[in-house]
Order: sequence, then C-alpha cells, then structure tokens
Amino acid sequence: MNNKPFDLDNDAAYQSWRETKLENYPTKAEQLVVEINNPHELSKSEKQALVDCCKKTNMAVYISPTGEDPDKNIPFDLARQFGLRELNKNMGADDDGITALKVQNDPLHKRYIPYTNHAIHWHTDGYYNASDQQIRALNLHCVRPAKEGGENAVMDHEIAYILLRDDNPEHIQAFMQDNAMTIPENVVDGNEIRPARSGPVFSVIGDNQLHMRYTARAHNVIWSQDATTQSAVAALDALLHSDSKYIYRLTLQSGWGLISNNVLHDRSGFTDDVAHPRLLYRSRYHDALQLS
Ligand SMILES: [Fe+2]
Repeated sequence: MNNKPFDLDNDAAYQSWRETKLENYPTKAEQLVVEINNPHELSKSEKQALVDCCKKTNMAVYISPTGEDPDKNIPFDLARQFGLRELNKNMGADDDGITALKVQNDPLHKRYIPYTNHAIHWHTDGYYNASDQQIRALNLHCVRPAKEGGENAVMDHEIAYILLRDDNPEHIQAFMQDNAMTIPENVVDGNEIRPARSGPVFSVIGDNQLHMRYTARAHNVIWSQDATTQSAVAALDALLHSDSKYIYRLTLQSGWGLISNNVLHDRSGFTDDVAHPRLLYRSRYHDALQLS
C-alpha cells in the first residue's frame, strides 16, 4: 500500500489524511489572523503561529502595524522568511516582480480585470501558465483598502478537493485529466502573447502536495466536453457559490496581508476614494511556502 492520499486507488490513505485535515479545521476568517509587530523580522512565536495556520489551511492573514507604508520590502521580507524566492514576473508586474494592484487605465493593464474595480470570479493565480511555470504561493499585502468593497473570499484548495471527492470520486478523476481545462490563446492586436494551454485542475507535485488550477470565468476556459468533467465543473461551481463554512470572507486593511499556497479566491467589486485609491501588492512565487 502506498501513502498517497490523492491517489484515487488508495482510499485508506485518503481517509486518514482527510480525518487529520478536517480535525479542528477553522470555520471563521478570524481564526486565520496572526498579529505581528515587525514584518521584516518576525518573532519566533509569530512565525510559528503563521506556520501552524498555513499547515492547516494553506493560508494565513497577518495584521502588521505598517499602515499605509508602501515599502515593497514588507511583502519581500515576509516572503523570504517563508523560503519564497522564485518570483513570477507576470506581464503587469513592476520591474521588481511585485504587482501593484490598483485601477490602471493604460492600454497594457486595462484589458485585465485585476486592474479594474470590477469583481473577479473564483480562480487560482496563474492557471494559464505553462505546466513548469505554475504558481505555488500567492501573497497579498494591503497598502490601502478601497472606500467600499474589495472583499476577498478564499477557500483552501485541499478542502475543495475533499468536498468534491466526498461528493463523487469521479469529479477528481475528471479534474486530474491532462486535458480537463484548456485556456485559449491570448492574442492582442494580432500578436499571440500566450498560446492555448491544456492541463489538469488538480495535480500532485513532489511529496504529496496538491496543486490546483481553476478559473470560473467562462470566457477564459474551455472545459473538456465529457460528461464527468461537465459534472465536476458544475459541482465545483455549486460549492463555490454555496454558503460553505469553509469559505472565508475578509477585506484586507492597511498593513494586513495574506500569505498562501495559491488557494482559491475571488474579489468583490469596489469603489475607490479617488484621492486615496485601493492599492494591494501581489506576489506570485513558483515555490510553495516553506512550513518546517
Ligand atoms: Fe488572483
């Protein structure tokens, strides 16, 4: 018998992992919160509290006293303390690799929803990336919230896996197919910026680490047409639109941030105070949070 909980042929390993995972699992966003004094240098107990939370839920929220300080070393230094080094430099990112998420109206940015004040549907980051360029960790640091809105909903992708597998293991089988989802090519002014890419929703990386690629935005994905995939897509959609106790909602405030192993998330639309617009720093890493 192997010890692989994500192997559909190994129900014993799955049940054992599942039981441990769900034991004392947080059901409120407040349970993810850790207050820290200095993001540049965490105390031992602060670090341990963040590690413990991430081990359980693949994410944690910190509250730091940095307020509206726009110093990018805040997210950089925090990430470094969790072993994150390989920043993904996506198209809209600044030269240092961190992306300033704010409303931007220039031609490069305005085509992409993150740089508008519109709602963003459920997704994981970088679902359109090549298989060897996947985003394992996603961090957000809030310099300034919106005047109104800009709330994030988040859900641990391992919990999504459990709820889907418990509902019907065929959902998992469908979502692990190499052609489960195809992201259409990105063409701007006749130039192909990214080719079409197919891949699985769930995959297992290295030592039993579950990875998830997903977008609820129908425009951005072509699902495999077989009945089991269609059924899995509907089940996940229903789950993400349910009032599941495993969906946390929070609006990051100045000096707060989220560190995560690229969990499922969305964002509500928002209204800016024009003089003090919303600003979040987003960092995407090819490595996962180091939690030992
Ligand atoms: Fe995102």
